Parts: sequence; C-alpha cells; structure tokens
Amino acid sequence: MTDTAKLILGDQTIELPVIVGTEGEKAIDITNLRAKTGYITYDPGFGNTGSCKSAITFIDGEKGILRYRGVPIEQFVEHPNFIEVAWLLIFGRFPKKEELERFSALLTEYAPLHEAMKHHFEGFPVDAPPMAILSAMINTLSCFEPQFSKFEDDEAFEQAAAKLISKVRTIAAYSYRRSRGLPFMYPDPKRRYCSNFLHMMFSMPYSDYEVPAEIEDALNLVLILHADHEQNCSTSTVRMVGSSRANLFASCAAGVCALWGPLHGGANVAVIEMLEAMHKGGLTPEQCLKMAKDKDSGFRLMGFGHRVYKNFDPRARILKEQCDKVLATLGVKDPLLDIARKLEELALQDPYFVERKLYPNVDFYSGIIMRALKIPLNMFTVMFAIGRLPGWIAQWKEQHDDPTNRIARPRQIYTGPTKRDYVPMDQR
Ligand code: CMC
Repeated sequence: MTDTAKLILGDQTIELPVIVGTEGEKAIDITNLRAKTGYITYDPGFGNTGSCKSAITFIDGEKGILRYRGVPIEQFVEHPNFIEVAWLLIFGRFPKKEELERFSALLTEYAPLHEAMKHHFEGFPVDAPPMAILSAMINTLSCFEPQFSKFEDDEAFEQAAAKLISKVRTIAAYSYRRSRGLPFMYPDPKRRYCSNFLHMMFSMPYSDYEVPAEIEDALNLVLILHADHEQNCSTSTVRMVGSSRANLFASCAAGVCALWGPLHGGANVAVIEMLEAMHKGGLTPEQCLKMAKDKDSGFRLMGFGHRVYKNFDPRARILKEQCDKVLATLGVKDPLLDIARKLEELALQDPYFVERKLYPNVDFYSGIIMRALKIPLNMFTVMFAIGRLPGWIAQWKEQHDDPTNRIARPRQIYTGPTKRDYVPMDQR
C-alpha cells in the first residue's frame, strides 16, 4: 500500500506522507508543504481538505453510511435516547447505567436558568429570531459560569457539558414563550429531557402538557439524527473558534450562528416555506424543479443535495418513515407530506438531480415531523441546534484534549493590487 505521495514541482520531487483512517479513507499530509516548497494548497469550501483527525463520527457519503462512535445510526431507531447518544458522542463509549443516571441527574439539576438570565429575554424584541437569542444566551451563560473557562478534569467537563445541554433546552423554550408573550414555564424535574422541553414549550401555569410516549420517542430520534455530522460548517466553526482556546460556551454560540444559514441548518425552515408555497398554489412541484435547475433563478431545491452524501442521506430515510408514524400517532394529515413525496419522486427521476447525485437530506422531512409536534417554524433551526450540541461539545473536547492542536489559521492567494502609494485626499 502507498504510504507516501510524490509531488513534482519543476525539478523538485517532494514526498508527502499518506494518512489512512480506520475505515480506509486516505489523506495526503501536507503539513510541511509550504516549509519545503513555498507552495500552499487551494481548496475553496474545503471540499478536499481534512482539517483534523477525529474518532467521533464516520460518514461514507458514496454508500450513505453514518455512524456515531462506530454505531450505525439505524441502531438508535428502536429505543431512541438522545441523552445516551450525547454521552456516547462526548465520552466515546456507552455509558454504564449509573453513569447515565448521574448525567441525567445533572441535567435535571441544571435545567433552571439563573433568575438574572431570565431578564435578558425581556431585552429582545418579541419578533427576534430565536437563533439570535440562542446564540446570545449561550454566550451569556459563560458569564454565569466563569469556572468553566478552563477544565481541571473530566468531571468538570462533564458538568459543563450537562449545563450546556440542559440549559440550551430551557433557553430555546423560553425564547419561544417570549415570542408569544407567554409566561415562562419552569422545568419539571420529574420529566425526562424531551418531555421536559415540550412541557416548557407548551404547558400553561393552569394545565400540564401531556406527552405521549411515541412523541417523546420521535423527538428523541429527531435530536439523535442531528447529533453529529463530522466537520460540517457549524462544527468546523466550533473547532475554529475553540482552536484559539476560546471557551466551550463561546465556541458553541458561534456554532449556532453558522448553523443559522439556509444552506446549513436553516434549510429545514426553507423546505417548509417551499412546500407551503406549493400548497398555497403559487408553485407546482414541476415549476419548483424547473426553477431549481435554472442557475439564474438563485433558487435551489431546499432539503436536497449534500457536500458529502452522493447517495441517500441515511437520516432522511429514517425521517421519511418516521413522518408516517408520527402523523398516524397524532392523527394529523399534513398535505405538505404528500407534496414532499411527489417532489422527491420527480427529482429522483430528473436527469439534472440524477447526474449531480442530489438526494433528499436530513432537512427534507424533519420539518414535517416538527410541524406535527406543533413546533413553530421559526424554532426549527433551534431544534437542529439542540440536537447538534452534543456533537459540538464532543468535537470541541476532542480538539481541546489533542496536544497537537494549533490555532486554525488558513492561508490565501492574494489577488488585490500590488504595491502602490497612498494618495492624499486632495489628489484623488
Ligand atoms: N438544488 C439545485 N441544484 C443543486 C442543489 C439543490 N438543492 N444542490 C446542489 N445543486 C447543484 C449545484 O448547482 C451544482 O451544479 P453545477 O455542477 O451545475 O454547478 C451541483 O449541484 C453541485 O453543487 P454544489 O453547490 O457544488 O454542492 P455543495 O457541496 O457546495 O453544496 C449544499 C451542498 C447542501 C449546500 C447544496 O446541495 C444546497 O444548497 N442544498 C440546498 C440547501 C440544503 O438543503 N441544505 C441542507 C444541507 S444538509 C444539512 C445541513 O448541513 O445543515
């Protein structure tokens, strides 16, 4: 097997080591390229660049495989437990019963927000985007938890992770209550993670929101399917910020901002807006595909395509099945599901999408489940963030524990003016 690559530059031949991952993917190690040759590599969008070694998540985009710490995500479908998966991702092994219980107890203990933090919500306009509130409030958390700017040991890290995972859920629910002018509901220590979230979203001081077991399972599964996805835009952002030794909270707040964009986590909102436009009769599925294929339209088929998957996104497969299950449990008939199915069928037969290997991604069906759970549209990307948080924490920790970590600092090819002189104002 090749363990070096040869690069010929003029009359110079450089040998570059080849790194092989545990699943056989190969990378040419260019760490010393510039020092040896003066050249850098050019890879806009980092489509060919491995930014780190990671033992957390494996994706084979050609085969449509996604595994967390080696476990295929399909194996989480039957007994979905988001907190167990979060622990697995962060600490790299399955928690023992007592470890999971201890972590769950920490989540319960940390669920309430500092009362002073509650007042921060009043400073936001009622129509403030919940993603803006989420990012701002995660940063605010670091002011209330200054002891976590450095970690003495794994126990302190576990506490910080539990605080973040637990309080993010409270922040998310409060941002929704604020937007509706509803009273904040305190977390209920008797409830588990997902049920407690739905309680803080939908209970009223005079009536408790009951959560059927199937719905709790469905929400656990939605969060699990979003929990990590190796070096995607928001996770790379978390690592980029963390590489400067910024604290965990600040790094995750930055991750929320990256996730917000419509080409990333914001796509789940864009998908529903697109399906709603079709439902209202403004657009047929055929017209929608035509527009998506027209490069001048500036429109893309939302929920389709992926940088890594050139096959079905395994998360989309699971979510599509779950849509039927959740809607049946709740007795909901959502016309958007029929439109989504039709759109998928047409796209998968269309040469434009077939040639480019564009398949439904995680965002294509997730919104239909969230609608059925009565999660409002402007909270969809927040749900993605709650799900992705364990992945961000795991990736931040992996980088933090890596003694070879260096500050992330890409280079560029400068294309601006060459040296010229300053022109005084009166001579311009
Ligand atoms: N609709 C129409 N054309 C598309 C689409 C789409 N959704 N996605 C990719 N293409 C075309 C693109 O125009 C290009 O065509 P050509 O080769 O003729 O120039 C080709 O397919 C390759 O696309 P790309 O832009 O080079 O692909 P990328 O890896 O840079 O982008 C993507 C990946 C996910 C940003 C993109 O597929 C997209 O914009 N999809 C819609 C938004 C979306 O659903 N995002 C959620 C992604 S999954 C969850 C997450 O990461 O948050």
